[in-house]
Amino acid sequence: MKPEIIKASQISPDQSVVCILGKDEIPEFLRLSKTEKEYALKQLREKEEHVFINSYLKCTYLVRVKDKSDDFRKKEDTRRAASVLKKLIRSNNHSELVITSHKAYKGAIEDFTEGFLLSIYSFEKYKTEEGDEKKRRYPSKLLIHGDADKLEIKWINILSDAVWFVRDLINEPVNHLNAAALASEILKSGKSSGFKVEVLNKGKIEALKMGGLLAVNKGSVDPPVFCILEWKPEKCVNKKPIVLVGKGIVYDTGGLNIKTGDYMDNMKGDMAGAAAITGAMYVSAKNNIPLHIIGLVPATDNRPGGNAYSQGDIIKMHNGMSVEIGNTDAEGRLILADAISYASKYKPELIINIATLTGSAAVTFGNQAIATMSNADRKYIDLLTECGNIVHERIGMLPFWEEYGEMIKSDVADIRNVGEGREAGAITAGKFLERFTKYPLIHLDIAGTGLLKKDDYYRLKDGPGSGLRLISTFIRKLAADYIKHK
Ligand code: BES
Ligand code: ZN
Ligand code: ZN
Repeated sequence: MKPEIIKASQISPDQSVVCILGKDEIPEFLRLSKTEKEYALKQLREKEEHVFINSYLKCTYLVRVKDKSDDFRKKEDTRRAASVLKKLIRSNNHSELVITSHKAYKGAIEDFTEGFLLSIYSFEKYKTEEGDEKKRRYPSKLLIHGDADKLEIKWINILSDAVWFVRDLINEPVNHLNAAALASEILKSGKSSGFKVEVLNKGKIEALKMGGLLAVNKGSVDPPVFCILEWKPEKCVNKKPIVLVGKGIVYDTGGLNIKTGDYMDNMKGDMAGAAAITGAMYVSAKNNIPLHIIGLVPATDNRPGGNAYSQGDIIKMHNGMSVEIGNTDAEGRLILADAISYASKYKPELIINIATLTGSAAVTFGNQAIATMSNADRKYIDLLTECGNIVHERIGMLPFWEEYGEMIKSDVADIRNVGEGREAGAITAGKFLERFTKYPLIHLDIAGTGLLKKDDYYRLKDGPGSGLRLISTFIRKLAADYIKHK
């Protein structure tokens, strides 16, 4: 259970406290004894970043933020401090925990709270026995004390709800979450936050001639779905919508070009893009963001069934283009291309696509950056870069030159779904998608950041929820920019 977040104006003597310090100075309101203070200061001066004081009635956790020139680094260090302290905090079994600060930078309380909320998630719904560890619990209430911004706390609370939801979706295995089940989770999320959802079934997908989605689905025993999410509040500031497109491959075996070795590991999470945009819609609706936003989720699994699509097949896409299948494991771009083509009907201001698309993106950036390609106006990229730095979901730009488009020419069709070799694999995938729209496109490849083999501070393993905080923050700031320039 996620803890409840409550504003607190006072700290009582028996309440345990986390205090973020901007200086080697212990505030009076912590009510520490003289010896405790001396001990804490000594530790802090010896460059200890976290100090723990176990008093008779309560625990005190001191977190010293280093004075670094880079504000983004400070924010991230504070979020990470929360993840470092989580075990100790749980071992002390507090029912409530106060979070406050003293002479720290503005936003420190919010950052610690966010880091804590993101750190304490776990996916345990299929465990029938409680482990010994679980007998100790995280606090069920976080009491926010001090100068934290009310709106910011609300934002973090909703955002972390969304991260937990998105992680649940990614971590859910395909035997519990096929395409139809993903659609019903999206419906539920829409109901609880206020965005509209329409789910197109296989018949409608056939009528729309979405040949990419249908081809990938051919080997499956489950039908595909195509979900249309819409958030359109009464007072929208944009005339043309922002369209978010997310890859919803609920399991990627590779198809007939089957994944060998260990490469299928984690492939239940090949719908992390779809999860991220669902989360971003939830956050936008819950915060009543005054932007018209559409979300598109094409979903299926990719399997080598009896009728599975094959290398060498030539298929016809939603926009009428023909595609030669060079590899059935390059399935994501096929379902996304249909969705991106479908997006034209909205005449969008901007399309943002997010997908666990290529191993190549992970090879390029490891898990530190979201591989980003774009033909959109520079102002969007500048904003996205800033948002990436704020939430520490940084974007790494790849070139998007037209020459890369020539690498996916086909002798027998309009285009091929892969290049000849492995060269520039992330970029050729982006170039493939670009061919399916004349509207500005930002393509985010989260293959490196979206599925982790081990925890990295508050970015928890399997599905950390990559891209959600980035896109949500981008939407929030885009709306604010609109209002400012009106
Ligand atoms: N879902 C995978 C990409 C992936 C790999 C995501 C590892 C996360 C971690 C995608 O569908 C895929 O298989 N891509 C192929 C494309 C290739 C056949 C051109 C790849 O990257 O190897
Ligand atoms: Zn694949
Ligand atoms: Zn895939």
